[in-house]
Amino acid sequence: MTLSDKILKIKDELKDELCILAHHYQNDEIVRYANFIGDSLELARKVPSLKAKYIVMCGVYFMAESTAILANESQQVFIPVEKAGCTLADLAPAKLIEIILTKLNQKRKIIPIAYVNTSAKVKAICGEFGGSVCTSANSVTMLKWALENSDGVLFLPDRNLALNTAKALGIDDEEISYLDDDIFNKKYKLYVWPGYCDVHLNFRQGHIYHFKKRKPDAKIIVHPECTPEVVNEADAWGSTSKIIKYVQNQPKGSKIVIGTELNLVNRLKKQHGDKEIFPLHTTCCKYMEMINESNLLSLLESLDTYKQVKVDTKTKELARVAISKMLDVCK
Ligand code: 13P
Ligand code: SF4
Repeated sequence: MTLSDKILKIKDELKDELCILAHHYQNDEIVRYANFIGDSLELARKVPSLKAKYIVMCGVYFMAESTAILANESQQVFIPVEKAGCTLADLAPAKLIEIILTKLNQKRKIIPIAYVNTSAKVKAICGEFGGSVCTSANSVTMLKWALENSDGVLFLPDRNLALNTAKALGIDDEEISYLDDDIFNKKYKLYVWPGYCDVHLNFRQGHIYHFKKRKPDAKIIVHPECTPEVVNEADAWGSTSKIIKYVQNQPKGSKIVIGTELNLVNRLKKQHGDKEIFPLHTTCCKYMEMINESNLLSLLESLDTYKQVKVDTKTKELARVAISKMLDVCK
């Protein structure tokens, strides 16, 4: 029996007791087993409606933690590789964020908006300080909401998402602090954490100029974790689900250049044989790539003893407050 036969057999035996979720950046080897594929927002929205006893997240650890926060007490949440982390989440230490927020809030009401690419502890801090979370699909709505309900916003951890979102809302550079000056005495509208995704940092303006020269009739769409310099040169930007819809909506025969993780670009290429699709640059997420058929099978073969993804009750409650606010604001 092949690995694939074994996975399919377990899926068939467990039927509705098992639900496999996969992020768009997973490769096809994994995506074919998924009951539901989505971007971060779609995956978070899906969890509360799931009835399965076992939920397996084929994505990165913060996604599995968000699943554990939103699942009910009787459900068990797993990820095939616990070490499948995320650069952005690693660049946002909860303790430091808490210290900065406490100090910022001595004089003004500064609320945090955390990109979902953060730990459960950081999401809990957002709940505690009256803030919320966002994904790349709703960052504009969530930052607008936060600005309307505070004296200022600490947006973390992705500097590029923060700046691309600020630009969409018309926030001036003078109103933005990069946390590199006297943040406790000067009054800013937006405080931007200096995190980044090393996958999306690989996309450069030079790649865009290359395509503009070689394929002048191509449309270019990029993920907002790319730098503002790259986003400003593109025709459009958006979350992974927005990129998928953008490709679907282009007419037959069109040329599209995509600046995001390679597994998604390759899948879109296969699905849209009537369009010419090019990666802006070839770059994969090393964390997403840690999940493969072999470790998925090991997990499925030992569901009752495999280490579950757990979030302690207090963190869960506060993080739920932050996530529920996002789901409410973006209904
Ligand atoms: P989405 O919010 O588009 O799913 O992106 C998540 C992510 O990790 C991008 O690097
Ligand atoms: Fe994190 Fe970047 Fe990988 Fe997304 S692509 S999971 S932001 S490291």
